[in-house]
Amino acid sequence: MPGRPAAGRRQPPGPRGLPLLGSALDFRRDPLRTFVEAWRDHGDLVQFRGPVPVVLVTHPDHLRHILVDNFANYPHPDDFNRKVSVSVGQGLVTTEGEVWRAQRRTVAPTFRKEPLERFAGVMVDSAARMLDRWERVARYGEVIDARTEMQSLTLEILARCLFRADWSRDALRLGRAVGAQLEHINSKLIAVADIPERVPTPRNRRFRQARRLLDDTVYRLIAERRRRPQGEPEDDEDLLSTLMRTPDPETGHLMTDEQLRDQVVTLFIAGHETVAATLSWICHLLSTHPAETERARAEVLSVLGGRPPSKEDLPQLKYLKMFIQEALRLYPPLWQVARMPLEDDVLGGYDIPAGSFLLLSTYITHRNPAFWDNPEGFDPERFTRERSAGRPRYAYMPYVAGPRNCVGLAFATMELTIVVASILQRFHLDMVPGHPVVMQPDISLRAKYGMRMTLRPVTARGEVPPPPAPPAPVVEPEPAAGCPYSRATAESGGLTAR
Ligand code: HEM
Repeated sequence: MPGRPAAGRRQPPGPRGLPLLGSALDFRRDPLRTFVEAWRDHGDLVQFRGPVPVVLVTHPDHLRHILVDNFANYPHPDDFNRKVSVSVGQGLVTTEGEVWRAQRRTVAPTFRKEPLERFAGVMVDSAARMLDRWERVARYGEVIDARTEMQSLTLEILARCLFRADWSRDALRLGRAVGAQLEHINSKLIAVADIPERVPTPRNRRFRQARRLLDDTVYRLIAERRRRPQGEPEDDEDLLSTLMRTPDPETGHLMTDEQLRDQVVTLFIAGHETVAATLSWICHLLSTHPAETERARAEVLSVLGGRPPSKEDLPQLKYLKMFIQEALRLYPPLWQVARMPLEDDVLGGYDIPAGSFLLLSTYITHRNPAFWDNPEGFDPERFTRERSAGRPRYAYMPYVAGPRNCVGLAFATMELTIVVASILQRFHLDMVPGHPVVMQPDISLRAKYGMRMTLRPVTARGEVPPPPAPPAPVVEPEPAAGCPYSRATAESGGLTAR
């Protein structure tokens, strides 16, 4: 159970909220606005009252203290691990202490930059297949939803990297099952009452069915691998095979089938929606920031010409790298992460008792005007070496930091760069006029109504043809009532008017 700060000790300031409920209703209604307003009114460390008191942490020094310097004192809250593990089991995300450490030292080497580079071709190929389909969409002047496009693409890429050739046979089943798992975790984390999975509600039934399907598929793929003769690793070995043959460097133990299953499902859950959400925000930025987009396109064309990107090209795409960094600053997919101290601590001069529920929000840190000029603006060049000088290291951390940072960082970086470069080579994206762009801060920061977009194929020289006649009218959903974040880029939770 999350602890209540002991009476009489020095607590961080925060909103009074309602009697008993504190800020609980505000959180449910609009967590981003609640964070932004509390930060503006109370500063870098905010104590929210309510049935579960929450401390909001956003200052880079405090983030460093929790994630790096005093990391061992700050595991995920038990409640988070319990809720997420109904789907992913005891994988990297949901374990702590020695169990987590053993998994991390076994899995991390597989996710280093160099061994992952063998998957560049898979990423290029999946992106090209999506873009070939887009050619037909563009020809008929149809509309895509970039959010669903990117979800399918990132799921396909991850599945092909994990299972190589076996993927296509199970693609549809796996895709649906992973989607259902993610939705279940999401609703469990925000639900007021956590209904156990054994209760036969429609949602639980869907979840159990999806979990069975996922388990059957993953266990079957593992069993098929186990039956194959074990030779030397091949250059195009998939991630599942690498994980199966990699021993714990300290104990020499190989992962059991159950451990492999949990790791594979963890990677699916942690590694597809995060990248998909980022890519769909990037699609939005590509359509709303023509100058920056054309600069990124010019760089891609000068480095690649018309050929597909290869791993050797990626370091040369320097402006594109900053474009992606800036997208992750404005729209960090994991916009908050939770931690709970094992022992009493002091942060910024305030007492943080053991068992306090801490939410670390990079969404706020990334928009703090103390570290970012014009924080609401889209300005990739703020990541040049000159302009980054003097900015605290922990003012920017979409992948968080310290021993428990994102193990998929190199994978995500390569995937984002390859997919965005491939899009730039072939298409210009236009938001459908009037489509509401609204941030939905679920477990990841998604576009609530998707991203409805039309496409203009660019010429081999990178010229963008003028827009065709206006697209066929579409029925648009209304923005969320009273939501200040509609038209997301300009108004998203501004922190500047402090
Ligand atoms: C834009 C893309 C991504 C972002 C912004 C991102 C961000 C993060 C963050 C912030 C965490 C820490 C969460 C916490 O401590 O509560 C995390 C952990 C993790 N991520 Fe990612 N992630 C991305 C892509 C990926 C990919 C592609 C994979 C795998 C293929 C992946 C696998 C993981 C795993 C397994 C963990 C848990 C690590 C541990 O606890 O040791 N992520 N990620």
